[in-house]
Amino acid sequence: MPDPRRKSPKSKYTEDRMIPGSFEGETVTRRRFMVGSANLAGGVAAAAFVLPALGFAVGSVFERQPTRWEDVGSVFQFPDDTYVPVNASVEIGVGETGKTTVYMRKHNPQLDGPVKDEYDRFMAISTRCAHLGCPVRFVEAAERFICPCHGGVYDFAGKVSGGPPVRPLDRFYTRVANDRVFIGPRYSVNSELQRFTPRDPGEPLDGIGQYAYPARFTTAKP
Ligand code: FES
Repeated sequence: MPDPRRKSPKSKYTEDRMIPGSFEGETVTRRRFMVGSANLAGGVAAAAFVLPALGFAVGSVFERQPTRWEDVGSVFQFPDDTYVPVNASVEIGVGETGKTTVYMRKHNPQLDGPVKDEYDRFMAISTRCAHLGCPVRFVEAAERFICPCHGGVYDFAGKVSGGPPVRPLDRFYTRVANDRVFIGPRYSVNSELQRFTPRDPGEPLDGIGQYAYPARFTTAKP
């Protein structure tokens, strides 16, 4: 004998469930069907906006870019007591706008200490000010890098010696092959000249700054 307390299983047909306006053989109510369709259409419309933006934002993370080394001159053309400006391409495929000035000199043991590794035999200093990014200029008479925008001053090694910049000038990796000097990717440094992945201007790297301003995926410009 069936237990009266036990609920009989619900029929899948709307007609059996006594839903007003139901048709024979119908399993989904028109209301539910319309709600589902509207949600689906909303999801497709949202994806059409969100997915391209997401791809643009994080696509470069998955893009494998080989390290590019650019020949900037002979090992004999760079002294160790002053800088020689070279024109280097830091972005490929955009013509002249992808070029920038990089100040080059040979490693100077009295100033730079012992050579750290194979990337340290020549110094390549970026001209992008670490305050807001204006181009700095090396003034030989003063042995200083000067920024014309807000009076930022950097010493001969590129460390801040005055004004608002929050860290030394960025540098580029260098290496030597067949008596030629090549420059590679840019990196940032803290006031001890320790290397960090490239940061944007205005981002300090001393103390907590290195954690407060993590590198962006796409921060690889000069
Ligand atoms: S951008 Fe160089 S000091 Fe402000």
